[in-house]
Amino acid sequence: MIKIKGASSCNLVLYGSFVIYYYLILIFSILVLRTHADHRKLSVVDQHVDVDPQEGLKEKDRITELLGQPGKVNFGQYGGYVTVDKNAGRAFFYYFVEADGPNKDSAPLLLWLNGGPGCSSVGLGAMTEIGPFRVKSDGKTLFQNIFAWNKVANVLFLDSPTGIGFSYSNTTSDTENNGDARTAADGYSFLLNWLERFPEYKNRDFYISGESYGGHYVPQLADTILQNNKLALSNKNMIINLKGISIGNPSLDKAVDDAGTYEFLWSHALISDNEIMKLRKDCNFSQLTDECIDEVSMIWKRGENYNEYNIYAPVCHTEEGVVTEKPNDISILNNDPCSENYVLHYMNLPEVQLALHANVTKLNYTWELCSTQRHWKDSPSNMIPVLQNLLTNGLRVLVYSGDFDSKIPYGSTIQVLKRLNLTEKVPWNQWNVSDEIGGSNVEYNEGLTFSTVRGAGHMVPRDQPERALTMIKCFLQGEPLPKFVDKPWV
Ligand SMILES: *[C@@H]1O[C@H](CO)[C@@H](O)[C@H](O)[C@H]1NC(C)=O
Ligand SMILES: *[C@@H]1O[C@H](CO)[C@@H](O)[C@H](O)[C@H]1NC(C)=O
Ligand SMILES: *[C@@H]1O[C@H](CO)[C@@H](O)[C@H](O)[C@H]1NC(C)=O
Ligand SMILES: *[C@@H]1O[C@H](CO)[C@@H](O)[C@H](O)[C@H]1NC(C)=O
Ligand SMILES: *[C@@H]1O[C@H](CO)[C@@H](O)[C@H](O)[C@H]1NC(C)=O
Ligand SMILES: *[C@@H]1O[C@H](CO)[C@@H](O)[C@H](O)[C@H]1NC(C)=O
Repeated sequence: MIKIKGASSCNLVLYGSFVIYYYLILIFSILVLRTHADHRKLSVVDQHVDVDPQEGLKEKDRITELLGQPGKVNFGQYGGYVTVDKNAGRAFFYYFVEADGPNKDSAPLLLWLNGGPGCSSVGLGAMTEIGPFRVKSDGKTLFQNIFAWNKVANVLFLDSPTGIGFSYSNTTSDTENNGDARTAADGYSFLLNWLERFPEYKNRDFYISGESYGGHYVPQLADTILQNNKLALSNKNMIINLKGISIGNPSLDKAVDDAGTYEFLWSHALISDNEIMKLRKDCNFSQLTDECIDEVSMIWKRGENYNEYNIYAPVCHTEEGVVTEKPNDISILNNDPCSENYVLHYMNLPEVQLALHANVTKLNYTWELCSTQRHWKDSPSNMIPVLQNLLTNGLRVLVYSGDFDSKIPYGSTIQVLKRLNLTEKVPWNQWNVSDEIGGSNVEYNEGLTFSTVRGAGHMVPRDQPERALTMIKCFLQGEPLPKFVDKPWV
């Protein structure tokens, strides 16, 4: 239950495997950094999209109850497939939760996309970050997330691109040919068809959110929608009422992000002064030399002694997928470092897949949180032109950074955003959740807000669920974050 008190309605008062990523990102970094050129334009404008009749499918997708769900809930849940390309036989899996509360018919629609590339939004986003449930340590029962984002929006989780989570293609080679452009095109096709299935959301305020490599997916999908909306002006039925985007610890310029990682590790005493001096001398992260790759590899050889996605979080010490016989004590505010293991176990249970209407074609591989993308086809070196275009077209943009993340540290994000030449509306100041600093933020005249979330790592809503919910609530309502008013030192 959420009770709102105080002058600002944005003051919430609530009662109530990182090893895989490491390899994923290392492989991806080396592949992309060494091969890619600067593709700036997405070639998905005016693509041919089949919008098929969807009658009856919404009701078929309704989820009666998830396995291990803690009793009845007051919001509808849906899960199922939407075909995004008939010829290839590509279908995207979604999990949708209606807003929990009396205003579900007016609350915005919010799409959530996890990054990687290659991570499941249903597994990571819904089950460990912003969804209504989390998986207990037994891997088969759920508990409620009182800070779920469906307190303030109707939330749609999409497994994307093809081959990720439960999304699949009948053309096997498709999963080896993922890239930014097709991800955006398929996302657009998904949305048009999904809105046909759920027509009550067609004119609803729509926001796209995500994190990490979602820093590519989210702006690119938004850009695709804007461009197609312009072409569809004569056909109101095809217009998506996009209002804004929100991206957390976003990948916006890989070279800047990577350089920032080592500066962050050094400034937080995790790599030595000698190491950073060598890297500063030898490394240009937009053009990796063998010498630099060797120095970087030496640093990572030391192993996974800390969680690079949240340097102050505990590390999980059990093997992948291990669960406990009896569920351990639960806590939303104090995330269990092994929570991804429980999700891995849960999502692979046949009863769970049945309840979600997932894996209906009996895929011949097991469900994974993240799968390595060896042949990522296209990835622009930076997102500045796309972000610039979104702002010019009047979209509102929230960029936020968990300040304990070394992977895409806040300093890198600030550095990249500077290239937008924005002008300050509200200068750097602190915001307040429960009489504590929730983070810092700056508002710009052009429609962008940058906010840090204090004490959060890469997966902000997992580490700081109350602060994250306050932040997204204010953003969706178009209101400033509650101010933290400095008290004089006495
Ligand atoms: C993929 O193939 C299976 C088995 O033939 C079929 O049931 C399914 O509808 C196909 N999926 C798509 C999206 O065409
Ligand atoms: C790093 O490499 C890029 C791409 O080759 C180049 O444009 C840039 O000037 C280099 N930066 C420095 C500091 O040498
Ligand atoms: C899974 O099925 C696809 C065809 O649907 C096939 O090409 C592939 O080899 C199969 N993989 C395994 C591991 O059996
Ligand atoms: C899909 O179902 C098959 C058979 O029921 C199972 O072996 C496979 O692991 C499942 N795959 C995914 C991705 O859920
Ligand atoms: C920001 O300003 C610089 C210097 O005037 C200019 O080169 C650059 O193109 C501007 N960036 C954008 C996104 O407008
Ligand atoms: C934080 O917000 C609460 C609730 O609105 C308010 O009572 C409190 O004074 C604020 N604290 C600071 C330091 O601004």
